Amino acid sequence: MSDLAHKPVLLDETIDLLNLQPGMQVIDMTLGLGGHSLELLHTVGPSGKLLAFEQDERNLKEAKKRLKSFEKQIIFVHRNFEHIKEETAKHGFKPDAILMDLGLSSPHVDDPDRGFSFKEGGPLDMRFDPRQDLTAADVVNKMGEKDLADIIYEYGEERRSRVIARAIVEQRKQKPIETTDELADLIKSVSPKVNRTHPATQTFQALRIYVNRELEVLEKALSDAIEILSPKGKIAVISYHSLEDRMVKQIFKENASSTKKNKYQKQNKEDLCQQETGKSLYILTKKPIIPTGIEVFENPRSRSAKLRGAQKE
Ligand SMILES: C[S@@+](CC[C@H](N)C(=O)[O-])C[C@H]1O[C@@H](n2cnc3c(N)ncnc32)[C@H](O)[C@@H]1O
Repeated sequence: MSDLAHKPVLLDETIDLLNLQPGMQVIDMTLGLGGHSLELLHTVGPSGKLLAFEQDERNLKEAKKRLKSFEKQIIFVHRNFEHIKEETAKHGFKPDAILMDLGLSSPHVDDPDRGFSFKEGGPLDMRFDPRQDLTAADVVNKMGEKDLADIIYEYGEERRSRVIARAIVEQRKQKPIETTDELADLIKSVSPKVNRTHPATQTFQALRIYVNRELEVLEKALSDAIEILSPKGKIAVISYHSLEDRMVKQIFKENASSTKKNKYQKQNKEDLCQQETGKSLYILTKKPIIPTGIEVFENPRSRSAKLRGAQKE
């Protein structure tokens, strides 16, 4: 039995929101260890189909094992979900529902060799997909001080970005920074102790987002996902930090037609305009759905999760 584990977050809420019916076609853009997918497959039954993306080979292998009894219903794609349009066209897939459960899975955080966590020392890696060249060590040891500060500020929302970038550049003059604990200790040494969170948290988030191009990929893939969704199809996105959540909210808004009107209300000029520009989304969650206290207690990693959903007209 493998010791890889990941508890799916907001599982019941996601399944409720997607309101799946037997025989539907579903895309899981972030398969992970298959926790959400397993439930999606149960819900769509034996005539349903799943197209599942996962760029991390180890997670993909594990998910395949877990979903073995459904294998005839699943197309596994070992690629970045930015290729959603190409892959759905290739497989003639017409999704009735799409799920994105963004970010890291527990095996990423728990394995120090992947370099995502500073709790135990490991190589400064942070790649979701080890086939990619760029690692966090490349960024930390090669990028110019201003660009480094900008990344830490933009993707980590870290106000002390300049101080941290300066410290990194000074340190690497002595020798390259190679491990997560070296970097975390360095950041700690130039940061005042403010609260319980480790002072390196925001910088690690920034490096991870940059290395994996997370926001750039999310922006494109979410717009593409909305475009290929079937009429009346639903999309659910679970995000874990404010930069992602803001982007999801914004893209839903950009694609949203005005709030649904009842049949007696006249169509106004704005509606006609929206139809012409192809805006086609009805937002299902005015406010994001967040985990209950019980879920956070049972799975502290769910604490920052926010679920947003929308439906194609
Ligand atoms: C939060 S986990 C998903 C967990 C999953 N819902 C479950 O219940 O097991 C996110 C997963 O998506 C993968 N991932 C993140 N960004 C991706 C991308 N752009 N393309 C493909 N996979 C991605 C990560 O490797 C990770 O395994």
